[in-house]
Amino acid sequence: MNSPLVSLLRLVLCSFLFRVPIRRETMAATEIARQAGEGARAVPLAGHVGFDSMPDQLVNKSVSHGFCFNILCVGETGLGKSTLMDTLFNTKFEGEPMQHNQPGVQLKSNTYELQESNVRLKLNVVNTVGFGDQINKEDSYKPIVEFIDTQFEAYLQEELKIKRTLHSYHDTRIHTCLYFISPTGHSLKSLDLVTMKKLDSKVNIIPIIAKSDAISKSELTKFKIKITSELVSNGVQIYQFPTDDETVAEINSTMNGHLPFAVVGSTEEVKIGNKMVRARQYPWGTVQVENENHCDFVKLREMLIRVNMEDLREQTHTRHYELYRRCKLEEMGFKDTDPDSKPFSLQETYEAKRNEFMGELQKKEEEMRQMFVQRVKEKEAELKEAEKELHEKFDRLKKLHQDEKKKLEDKKKSLDDELNTFKQKKTAAELLQSQAQQAGGSTTLKRDKERKNFF
Ligand code: GTP
Ligand code: MG
Repeated sequence: MNSPLVSLLRLVLCSFLFRVPIRRETMAATEIARQAGEGARAVPLAGHVGFDSMPDQLVNKSVSHGFCFNILCVGETGLGKSTLMDTLFNTKFEGEPMQHNQPGVQLKSNTYELQESNVRLKLNVVNTVGFGDQINKEDSYKPIVEFIDTQFEAYLQEELKIKRTLHSYHDTRIHTCLYFISPTGHSLKSLDLVTMKKLDSKVNIIPIIAKSDAISKSELTKFKIKITSELVSNGVQIYQFPTDDETVAEINSTMNGHLPFAVVGSTEEVKIGNKMVRARQYPWGTVQVENENHCDFVKLREMLIRVNMEDLREQTHTRHYELYRRCKLEEMGFKDTDPDSKPFSLQETYEAKRNEFMGELQKKEEEMRQMFVQRVKEKEAELKEAEKELHEKFDRLKKLHQDEKKKLEDKKKSLDDELNTFKQKKTAAELLQSQAQQAGGSTTLKRDKERKNFF
């Protein structure tokens, strides 16, 4: 895997990807070998082999695969975000204007397939909706940060899969954030500073002064200086066009001095002389979008699309995504070195994490067991107490029942006695009554006889 040939190919590929100029004819074999790795032996070739076609192969492969580029436009409502995108890519993207009555900031993402010559570009344009519309703007940056992190997370999840399909994966990581600054002519709003500060470690920020036709030339110069000094004093890191590639170092360093670009957007075509140009027409004159004396639109297009698009993609992967990935993996417990600064293998990290997890699991299990035993003991004691109470209650009730029974028996006995006495009295009374009746009957007969004799 580490043969000089592979290292050499890697160097060529890297040089191509990183746009380090390759001087194929002039680069001596010894120099190649030195760059390919210390200790590699320089071997001269006796004739043409053909691996010098690697860059062409890479270009062909990339062209057939197509490219993707994802732009995030952050800016207050109506600052000309959609118009600028249409102007930059010379097309009409969005149909409907956005709704701006939501309580918070939202992000709207649209993917487009573009083709120029034989190069296909999958362009993802993400726009903020309702940014700066709320009374309380404290949390306005949060949905943007979350959106960027979600794209990183999706890529990380794809990377961590056992079966990865990164070559066909639709990479939605944001390659650049065009930050639209309102053309106030004064200073940056605190919303701008807070948002840019929160985003600068996650995305390549290119600040632009939107609708710059609203500011006069002298005001614009002062405004640019003010913005730059505010960004510096607040420690906001904006994207710097790279100067390590000598083919573009000069233009890039010049353009770094022009930031933030003051842009004007328009898709309207106006006839100037005998040429149709994109411009904005006013009663007092015409602002030509692609006239460098009028605005920095051409500079922006040049830097964003024609010179540094690949660097923006690369910075996203090697700087911003790398940072996200590192933090995420560290959060998950992965480390490169152990406490003795020895390299940590993935297997060891996994084992360590697994042991830590198993230890925690056992501890939790033991805690739960103890808790269970304790609960059982408590329940047992509760049940015993309840049983005791029940027994006592039963005894009390039994005694009560016996007392009651005894009382009733006594009562029954006294009632029986009373009944017997009553019966005796009744018999005696009946006897007396019958005797009285008998005595009463003979007196009546005698009286009847005396009455008959009288008549
Ligand atoms: P939302 O998506 O609703 O937040 O708006 P936006 O930021 O996409 O703004 P949009 O491109 O819809 O433009 C809003 C208005 O500003 C339109 O009337 C545009 O014609 C106008 N506009 C766009 N760019 C410029 C510019 O550079 N200068 C001036 N003066 N007006 C512009
Ligand atoms: Mg819009």
